[in-house]
Amino acid sequence: MGEHKRIGILTSGGDCAGLNAVIRAVTHRAVGSYKWEVLGILRATYGLMHHPPQAMKLDRDKVDLTLTNAGTMLGTTNKGDPFAFPMPDGTVRDRSEEIISGYHKLGLDALIGIGGDGSLAILRKIAQQGKLNFVGIPKTIDNDVAITERSIGFDTAVNIATEALDRLHFTAASHDRVMILEVMGRDAGHIAISAGIAGGADIILIPEISYSIDNICSKIKELQEQGRNFCIVVVSEAVCTEAGDKVECLVSFGERRYGGIGHYLAERISACSGAETRVTVLGHTQRGGTPSPLDRLIASAFGVAAVDLIANEEYDRMVTWQNRQVMSVPIAEAISQYQAVDPKGSLVKTARGLGICLGD
Ligand code: F6P
Repeated sequence: MGEHKRIGILTSGGDCAGLNAVIRAVTHRAVGSYKWEVLGILRATYGLMHHPPQAMKLDRDKVDLTLTNAGTMLGTTNKGDPFAFPMPDGTVRDRSEEIISGYHKLGLDALIGIGGDGSLAILRKIAQQGKLNFVGIPKTIDNDVAITERSIGFDTAVNIATEALDRLHFTAASHDRVMILEVMGRDAGHIAISAGIAGGADIILIPEISYSIDNICSKIKELQEQGRNFCIVVVSEAVCTEAGDKVECLVSFGERRYGGIGHYLAERISACSGAETRVTVLGHTQRGGTPSPLDRLIASAFGVAAVDLIANEEYDRMVTWQNRQVMSVPIAEAISQYQAVDPKGSLVKTARGLGICLGD
């Protein structure tokens, strides 16, 4: 089984369902099959920059009851770029060397990083700088990491959004209302288009396709003429106003995040169609919940494959899901592209074929 290794694993960026399933799979493969040691690094790169580094030894007992838990047992952060780290005195500092030193202090032979495109780019940059052995695993409810058809967490988020749409149908019909569901997805409309089709939406708005309020109201009118007393709209959080402005809200520490497009649309739709509207913002519920079987499956396959890459000393690679198989690609290739919804792709064609209005 080759030489003994001590490997580290960390979760970075926003959490999602399925992260514990990857940690479990990595532990099972590395400890169970290869008899290596696995250290779970706490709170992403924070754990490596801490003095002493913060990590816990993972064994099968620690991970066995975690398969169905959302969140991450290791903690994570989507703040504090280590190359421009905000210090308490208001300055920013490059802390990448502290992370590299944390890797060496823990005596790691390799590191597995589970992250979205932003985290993977940062982790790769640190690994290149410190000549660290690094392997990436894509996770994000946004499903916007390139080259992989699926990232961990996306399927569960789509399930949650679809279930919300199922529930909204009945209350919408009971009250003759236009129900607007605002979903996450950052700059890509993957959650909206998938859940919108699966959940029987009448109108789906995604950032990749521009819309007009007039087109939305025409669709509502058409439904009314057909005898439908309600309408279900799904909108992706990054959809802009008609004038093309981002809709954002202020969150803690002066940061801004997408949020509010649902309410913006509700006002305009009710003004132009006369319909009574209500808005549901799903928010972070899309990141929780019991991981779906598909997310657990992909997480398990990615975890095993990432450990096997290390066993073969194939570093600087990201595992991917392509054509029903786990493959791997150079991380540089994955992070140099962005996976948006293809406006000419199958899902958009399907939506149009079903008569769903995409706002254009
Ligand atoms: O990238 C995952 C994601 O949930 C996005 O869909 C969303 O825009 C963002 O993170 C929310 O970030 P935060 O957890 O910082 O509010």
